[in-house]
Amino acid sequence: MKGVAVVFGLTGLMMMMIVCSCSKLHPIILVPGSGGNQLEARLTEAYKPSSLVCNSWFPIPKGGGGWFRLWFDPSVLIAPFTKCFADRMTLYYDLHKDDYFNCPGVQTRVPHFGSTRSLLYLDPKLKHITSYMADLVDSLEQEGYKEGETLFGAPYDFRYGLAAAGHPSSTGSKFLEDLKGLIEMASKSNGGSPVIILSHSLGGLFVLQLLNRNPLSWRHKYIKHFISLSAPWGGTIQEMLTFASGYSLGVPLVDPRLVREEQRSSESNLWLLPSPKLFHPNRSLVITEKRNYSAHDIPQFLEDIGFPQGVHPYRTRILPLVNNLTAPEVPLTCIVGSGIKTPETLFYVDREFDEQPEVLFGDGDGTVNLISLLAVELEWNGIAAKQPLKVIRIPRVSHTSILKDSVAIAEIVGEISTINSQVEVLRSVV
Ligand SMILES: *[C@@H]1O[C@H](CO)[C@@H](O)[C@H](O)[C@H]1NC(C)=O
Ligand SMILES: *[C@@H]1O[C@H](CO)[C@@H](O)[C@H](O)[C@H]1NC(C)=O
Ligand SMILES: *[C@@H]1O[C@H](CO)[C@@H](O)[C@H](O)[C@H]1NC(C)=O
Repeated sequence: MKGVAVVFGLTGLMMMMIVCSCSKLHPIILVPGSGGNQLEARLTEAYKPSSLVCNSWFPIPKGGGGWFRLWFDPSVLIAPFTKCFADRMTLYYDLHKDDYFNCPGVQTRVPHFGSTRSLLYLDPKLKHITSYMADLVDSLEQEGYKEGETLFGAPYDFRYGLAAAGHPSSTGSKFLEDLKGLIEMASKSNGGSPVIILSHSLGGLFVLQLLNRNPLSWRHKYIKHFISLSAPWGGTIQEMLTFASGYSLGVPLVDPRLVREEQRSSESNLWLLPSPKLFHPNRSLVITEKRNYSAHDIPQFLEDIGFPQGVHPYRTRILPLVNNLTAPEVPLTCIVGSGIKTPETLFYVDREFDEQPEVLFGDGDGTVNLISLLAVELEWNGIAAKQPLKVIRIPRVSHTSILKDSVAIAEIVGEISTINSQVEVLRSVV
């Protein structure tokens, strides 16, 4: 009888192990960065095109109800169409309503919320050049993750941001509500297992806000771990270049001045300006003949580059938001690239803001300065008991190659396996 009991015991143990290894995966929710998912648009009667070309031109094919893919479509790279694209992407700030809206006549929507579909490739017909999270998702699937069961995506309209308490931000707040619902659904459909949130870039700022805007009890119930890739916690100096001179989307064919107005109009771009909390007032980020600008001079900078409309929303809605990096009190792993030359000082000494500046580079991931990638390490130094934080630095990996590079993907997947193998009991003991 004893022998049988041992056999039963072993069988029971083995069965438990099997059950564990199948159900051990905490569901993952992917939150992309700016420009990291598709956006669709349609035009109504109220649409006022800036040129005749834009009146009749659409990326083809237009689907049901007149919806077409606004981001990303390769025609954006061809000059007359770049302008149409920029017009349709432009937001405006309504002073009376204190909120951001699409231009009149342009309706937009985010396809496939809940799924990874719109994050894999920005244009499914041009997989090779527009691949975004496809490689990462492949690797997660090899670990046993399944789309719609344990793996979910939270695309959003990345032109919009969030605002400090007391200011409406209808589009960004709606996204946070949807994301919250998705987290709860993913957890419930996985037997109550708390989720791992895996964000890239701007997505990390949204997730931090989501966490801090929900009670600690909610966070502990639903969030196992937050992994942020390349999060610009304190903004980027490159964003000042974007506001001053326009940024060519990294595509040499695009004239940055054609997209500058649109880029200035984006609420999330204001959010990504370098934070005065992080960049000391004695640090000149933009140098001109007349004066220099630190992160503390951004309102004056916006005036001087010819974008005074940005000053009020920046001061009232954005500044209090970026000055507040409250710890979410859920375990956080920041995975960042470094050792890539990243804009650090912009020289407009012998030129206007319309022209591209001379750039002095420093350390970072090519887009985000290292000091910003590591800002939470500094900020939450000394509260380790309350805020578990791990930082993984990957040399020579850029802001977006972190989603493709094999070493980076191995680090991300390794971190997820570690989290999945943690015994649940530890959580309540710690
Ligand atoms: C900072 O954010 C936290 C969480 O959202 C909030 O509770 C706190 O009141 C904010 N602090 C300030 C000074 O706005
Ligand atoms: C700027 O201020 C920081 C912090 O007070 C200080 O460590 C640094 O030496 C200053 N740099 C210059 C150039 O004054
Ligand atoms: C701006 O900064 C440069 C370089 O640090 C310095 O040489 C120059 O004197 C500064 N200009 C003004 C107006 O402060």
